[in-house]
Amino acid sequence: MVTSRKDLWASLKTSRRANHEGESAPIAVQIAGTDAQMMHEAAAYNIDKGAQIIDINMGCPTKKVCNKWAGSALMQDEALALEIIQAVVKAAEPHKVPVTLKMRTGWCATHKNALNIALAAQDAGIQMLTVHGRTREQGYKGQAEYDTMAEIKAVCASRW
Ligand SMILES: Cc1cc2nc3c(=O)[nH]c(=O)nc-3n(C[C@H](O)[C@H](O)[C@H](O)COP(=O)(O)O)c2cc1C
Repeated sequence: MVTSRKDLWASLKTSRRANHEGESAPIAVQIAGTDAQMMHEAAAYNIDKGAQIIDINMGCPTKKVCNKWAGSALMQDEALALEIIQAVVKAAEPHKVPVTLKMRTGWCATHKNALNIALAAQDAGIQMLTVHGRTREQGYKGQAEYDTMAEIKAVCASRW
């Protein structure tokens, strides 16, 4: 996972993550952020650095990421989530680099909107979807929602 914050790209941690020397294909880079333009630029930067797949992080539950409205926090704002997806696809399309999306089933038990986001993402050109079958509220604990994952898979597959 690489931040979309430009000011951190030269840091040791991020520059190591963005260096793919000696890695075998396919080289996939997950980007995290909260601003569509910054995510567009992060996709372009990582493609330039050798990324062959760009994944968008909408699943991370940590406070460090969510407090900045990135990761799973984006699921609370579908318009912003879609804006980011569209911006990243726009950056990757000219390079024929597929964009994928990682998300959860929603923010919390009363806010489960994974299917809505999945459908919008599919329409926007997302090539693959990974669903962690829990809400952000659940973190890594509790029963995974296999029924939600199955529903998303069935509905999206029926629209290809
Ligand atoms: C320590 C740790 C770090 C993780 N880092 C990422 C990450 O950077 N990006 C991501 O999309 N998922 C990340 N995940 C989530 C996992 O990819 C996975 O979705 C989650 O663990 C649920 O799958 P499981 O029930 O098989 O563990 C992380 C999980 C753990 C435990």
